[in-house]
Amino acid sequence: PIDPDFAHNRDVVDEHEGHDVWGPVEEPETLGIHGTHVAVDFDICLADGACLEDCPVDVFEWVETPGHPESERKADPANESSCIDCMLCVDVCPVDAIDVNPA
Ligand code: SF4
Ligand code: F3S
Ligand code: ZN
Repeated sequence: PIDPDFAHNRDVVDEHEGHDVWGPVEEPETLGIHGTHVAVDFDICLADGACLEDCPVDVFEWVETPGHPESERKADPANESSCIDCMLCVDVCPVDAIDVNPA
């Protein structure tokens, strides 16, 4: 599962679509964690899609990640500022790739 303490254990190494990327990142095999309020561990996500289907405010968008060993697309928290902290995505992700940190 995603490290709930990622903000202490990792550093921001990049920015993507307005949100932080927490390293390490070594493309294409290692992609890090995208987002902070809504954080998705891209190295755990296997493109199940439940988070995209169930989020009531459409926080997630697919991003293509060719060459990643788990899956070639990931749920990107593109609209993390819209999150209403319902925790549905955390509950439905089969591999616990998502951590939501209410402000
Ligand atoms: Fe969407 Fe709820 Fe997850 Fe926030 S906690 S990203 S509103 S499903
Ligand atoms: Fe990925 Fe979990 Fe969503 S596997 S697509 S973060 S439900
Ligand atoms: Zn991203």
